[in-house]
Amino acid sequence: MKTTIASAALAGFIASAQAQFVDRYFDLMSVLPGSPIDSQNIEAAGQHLWIGGGSAHYCPSSVDASNGCPHTTFTNFASNKYTYGELLMGANVPGGQTVYIDATCGALRYTQAHSAVMPNDAILVKWTLTQPAGASYQTLNWAGQGGSALGHEGLLACNGTEGGEGRYGIYANIGITPPGHCLGFEAVTTRISGSPAAWQYI
Ligand SMILES: *[C@@H]1O[C@H](CO)[C@@H](O)[C@H](O)[C@H]1NC(C)=O
Repeated sequence: MKTTIASAALAGFIASAQAQFVDRYFDLMSVLPGSPIDSQNIEAAGQHLWIGGGSAHYCPSSVDASNGCPHTTFTNFASNKYTYGELLMGANVPGGQTVYIDATCGALRYTQAHSAVMPNDAILVKWTLTQPAGASYQTLNWAGQGGSALGHEGLLACNGTEGGEGRYGIYANIGITPPGHCLGFEAVTTRISGSPAAWQYI
């Protein structure tokens, strides 16, 4: 599979502070009634996104000394108001952290702080936030090429991912079966805010 990305636009983005590109910050919760992954927070740890296991943040002491770290324990995300369809981590670190889909398996990953490094074929676009009629929340969708190959379009939570019992790795359905048992779910925004939840995610 080959996916073209707007790499020039991305390089420009990485070099700048994130906040000026951000439309809004939001937390994400998984919805699949009657399943073990219903109403769970989607969290960042180890450069992957997960359900279960907690959010992994880092705050450099120099930044902490000037009260630059949010000191929350949750993960949030952000939409890029200029580059259509990009999803960002809610991180304060200069350059930000960008979410990408690993094209070898569909895993949702994010760049390390101070680095734009990601695989050449990483998928960055086709994320959308839509508000169902009358709803107070929005749903995050990925409109990629997986179609219904795995019985569900969009996002999957799979328990065969490393990380222990009760932990589910988050994947986009790119038509490749991820490890373990996968459940298709809807990702909905919960808290919408004006600030990132972490200095950086690790
Ligand atoms: C994943 O879920 C399936 C179905 O509930 C279960 O049979 C299996 O043991 C689980 N695997 C892991 C690694 O937890």
